[in-house]
Amino acid sequence: MDLRQVFAADPGRADRYTLTAGGLRADLSKNLVDDEIVAALTDLADAMGVSERYEAMRRGDVINPTEGRAVLHTALRRPAGDSLMVDGVDVVADVHEVLDRMAVVAERIRSGEWTGATGARIRHVVNVGIGGSDLGPLMAYRALAHYRESIQCHFVSNVDPTHMVETLKPLDPAETLFIVASKTFTTQETLANADSAKAWILDGLASADPAEAVAKHFVALSTNAEGVAAFGIDTANMFGFWDWVGGRYSVDSAIGMSLMIAIGPDEFTEFLAGFADIDEHMGSAPAAENLPLMLGLLGIWYRNFLGMPSHAVLPYSQYLERFPAYLQQLDMESNGKSVHLDGSAVDHDTGPIIWGEPGTNGQHAFYQLIHQGTTVIPADLIGVVNPARDVGGQHDLLIANLFAQAEALAFGKTGAEVAADGAADDLVAHRTFAGNRPTNMILTDELTPRVLGQLVALYEHKVFTQGAIWGINSFDQWGVELGKELARGIVPELTSDTSLEHDASTNALIAHYRATRRR
Ligand code: F6P
Repeated sequence: MDLRQVFAADPGRADRYTLTAGGLRADLSKNLVDDEIVAALTDLADAMGVSERYEAMRRGDVINPTEGRAVLHTALRRPAGDSLMVDGVDVVADVHEVLDRMAVVAERIRSGEWTGATGARIRHVVNVGIGGSDLGPLMAYRALAHYRESIQCHFVSNVDPTHMVETLKPLDPAETLFIVASKTFTTQETLANADSAKAWILDGLASADPAEAVAKHFVALSTNAEGVAAFGIDTANMFGFWDWVGGRYSVDSAIGMSLMIAIGPDEFTEFLAGFADIDEHMGSAPAAENLPLMLGLLGIWYRNFLGMPSHAVLPYSQYLERFPAYLQQLDMESNGKSVHLDGSAVDHDTGPIIWGEPGTNGQHAFYQLIHQGTTVIPADLIGVVNPARDVGGQHDLLIANLFAQAEALAFGKTGAEVAADGAADDLVAHRTFAGNRPTNMILTDELTPRVLGQLVALYEHKVFTQGAIWGINSFDQWGVELGKELARGIVPELTSDTSLEHDASTNALIAHYRATRRR
């Protein structure tokens, strides 16, 4: 498909392919599709029962069979007073009971009423968690930095001890509250970091009663009350969620506590309302106007029909700097699968490689390959029309770059145009741009908490659409288990001299580490 010809032949294309959902406006016209392909893709969604599966998810059916669980993150953003009965329990009432408790504590921390063991006001909150217990709150905290008031949040995820050490260097234990965020409360990295945080508090507040120090400087976000109690955190200071919330779908559960403390309960409610806007849109918009569905279908077109292996997410907003990383877990942990729901091997590709960086930084790094490399990489370009802050008209520069990239990628520059610009003959080929490189241009008026919720839900349901079409389980993650299991076995081997029974390469690596590690 040649986008120059397609646009020349169809003046209504840009309008017709622009969809809106909540406060999001997506121009999908620079995709390598025509009306016939779009109709075939929506037929595919029908044939694979995407909307039926979406309704099954929303009503609490067990659609994650390998873990025997319902998948109900959509219940996390239903408004107070709504109700959803699952196995005789009103899950929406449970959700709001936790949200209300979170709001009380968040306000006590924000107002200074919640003090540390020395009576000092809490000024720093450190979220200790990894994967879904880190990426969501971290991404959203950065995205909504403009809404943050006095309290500063920090996020420690890596088991690399330097992450905690460097984060804590400028902090005063008397003013620091740790949020230990772990759905299972068994994750090795998080428990190790939580232990080191506890040691830092007990050491830094040595004159305080240790039990009081832990009670005033630690809260937990988890589904595992026993694990929380065993760690020494009073379960009165635990905010729960449920096994039907997947880690990568949990930023709108208690896992969002750091965000709520930063922006306040009212803005957090707005954030949740944004998710609900898109839940509603996904459930009710006709297929050709359904933005998450269409993003999913376009991805299927590129992945399965045109054989494109990767997908870039390029936010033209520094506030969204961690959005690509967040989407990597959401998408790749959900749809990086090789078997269908029934365990049979897939005979088609599944989840693409998701990656990206904020524009314009990416332009000066990897865009060369996107423009002229041999692999076509479909990309989502995300822009905010009205900035939270502008300095000297810089925002217009940013947005000019955003629009220019989409234009260049779609329409390129022919050899004749390059030559007509006066390029030397031997440079014409080097300076030619093939074009026909597809983008989705997603714009919003402002990056508010509500819009951020909409953006996250948009991608959740895009991922859902693709998983439903591929017939895979988007809600388990067995692929992360083998490495964890092997690491557990290797830990004691690093400090002993027992004989090693791995493969020759792994044995040699452990032997080298044993010999070289200074203790
Ligand atoms: O890496 C696998 C994973 O289970 C993710 O799915 C999850 O978000 C992360 O680990 C953290 O898990 P938890 O919140 O239980 O500590």
